[in-house]
Amino acid sequence: MIVTTEQSGLGELARRTPDDNVTGPFGAYGFADVNKFLMVYKFGLAEIGTKINILAEELAHRGRGNPIEHVSPRLKTPASITAKARRIECPLTFDDMRARIRDIAGIRIVCGFVPDVYTVARMLTRQPDVHLVVTKDYIAQPKPNGYRSLHLIVEIPVFLSDQVVAVPVEVQLRTVAMDFWASLEHKIYYKHDADVPAALRAELAAAAEDAARLDERMQRLHHEIHGPRQ
Ligand code: GTP
Ligand code: MG
Repeated sequence: MIVTTEQSGLGELARRTPDDNVTGPFGAYGFADVNKFLMVYKFGLAEIGTKINILAEELAHRGRGNPIEHVSPRLKTPASITAKARRIECPLTFDDMRARIRDIAGIRIVCGFVPDVYTVARMLTRQPDVHLVVTKDYIAQPKPNGYRSLHLIVEIPVFLSDQVVAVPVEVQLRTVAMDFWASLEHKIYYKHDADVPAALRAELAAAAEDAARLDERMQRLHHEIHGPRQ
């Protein structure tokens, strides 16, 4: 039987009496506890990473070109988990953070063309052990600032010695052009400390439109030369 992380008993940690003498990013919890909390996310990331590597290698082997350009996994740091918890007013207990922060494990898949994004998402989510929890399609409906990507929250089973835990992983799929824009927007935005002048915001949104046009253009060229991708 697959249990959720909430039911897994790992939540036992969060019910410990907080020890005020222990300080750190998680306040009452020690580093050993934090590492144990993060462990299943690391395993979840390894599982999904393997699935993506298998897809990439097999698709490359099929000889119609690999739709996956590159993949970057990341585990949220304790500091970034607690910062998000505070932002969303989530109590700093492992149980609450586990239930409400679904992007502790994250993996970004950068593809060549827009249709590749949907192909890879479909190949991943139709696997019987991958449970799709949420889809946010910011390609069909870009964010007001111009941000585009396909975001999935999936749950993937991790087989521990005595139980199976369904671990949530945030999967971000985007094209190289979307990734280029998002990476630079992130840098520009953070340098301005969230206080971006309106003119710059408009220009960033226009740049996102340019990136989307470039995607269309490259896809058209690819289509003209190679025909439609199956
Ligand atoms: P977070 O609390 O930031 O995780 O946001 P959320 O839970 O509302 O989820 P959402 O799907 O909107 O965004 C999740 C992640 O997508 C972020 O952590 C970023 O990595 C990325 N992202 C979302 N919006 C933007 C954006 O406007 N610019 C950039 N560069 N990245 C973004
Ligand atoms: Mg996030």
